[in-house]
Amino acid sequence: MAEVIIVRDPIEAGRVAAAIFAQQIIANPATVLGLATGSTPLSTYAALATMVREDSIDVSRVRGFALDEYLAVPPEHPESYRSVITREVVEPLGLIPEHVFTPRGTGPDITRAGAEYEAMITEAGGVDLQILGIGSNGHVGFNEPGSSLASTTRIKALAEQTRADNARFFGSLEEVPTHCITQGLGTILRARQLVLLAFGTGKARAVAAALEGPVSSAVPGSVIQQHPRATVIIDEDAAARLVHAEYYRHAWRSAQDLLPVDF
Ligand code: PGA
Repeated sequence: MAEVIIVRDPIEAGRVAAAIFAQQIIANPATVLGLATGSTPLSTYAALATMVREDSIDVSRVRGFALDEYLAVPPEHPESYRSVITREVVEPLGLIPEHVFTPRGTGPDITRAGAEYEAMITEAGGVDLQILGIGSNGHVGFNEPGSSLASTTRIKALAEQTRADNARFFGSLEEVPTHCITQGLGTILRARQLVLLAFGTGKARAVAAALEGPVSSAVPGSVIQQHPRATVIIDEDAAARLVHAEYYRHAWRSAQDLLPVDF
C-alpha cells in the first residue's frame, strides 16, 4: 500500500513533494526524474525551484523524461508538453534542456516513437523518481480507462473527459488534440519511486477508486497499489471519499514521530 499523506492545500503538498525530490537529487546528483504536466505538479516544481536556489543544489547532471505529449502538436506550440516542461520545470529549476526529454509527437514513422522513447529511458538507466497527477477519470499519464496494466509508451486516443478537462489550456474544446503519446502503465511501474498528487473535490472519486478500489485497467491510477515505493500526497478535498483516511493520518503522524523529517 502506498503511503498516503493528507495535507491542507496544494502549497503544503508541493513542499512535501519537493522535499522528496530534493533529497533524491542530493543523494544522487545524476538522478533521472519522471516529469508530469497539468496543474497538479506546479506547486511542487515551484517549491523545488526555491529549494534548488536557496540550498544551491547541483542539478547539472539531472535528467528528465516527461510522461506524455500530444500527437501532431509541434514542439514549439505553447501548449505542447515540450513547451510546458521547458516553462514549468527546465527553466525554473535550471536543468540543462538537452537532458530533458518528451515523447516525440510529430515526425516520420510516428508509430515507432513509443519504442524509441522506451529505449531512451532504458539507456538512461530508468526513472528514479516519477511525479504523477491523476485525471478525474482515473488516468495517469494519458493512460485512459481500459489501458493495459503492462502497457509501454504508445499512441492513445484521448478520452472526451480528458479533452474537456484540458480545454482550459486551449482556446476551445475543438482545439484540444484528439490523440497523444504516453508512457504506459508498465513504464510507470518500472520507475523506482512514485509520488502521486491530487487536489480538489473533482479528484476525490478517482483518488478513492485508485487507492481503495480493486487494481483494474478501468482505473489506471490503481496501478500505484502494485508499486513497492509510492507516496500519495493529497489535500482534504481530494481525500474526501477515502474510507481509511483516519488510518492514513495516524500512520503518517507516527512515521514522523519515528523518523522526524523536516518538511
Ligand atoms: P491536472 O491533470 O493536474 O491538470 O489536474 C492531471 C492529469 O490529467 O493527470
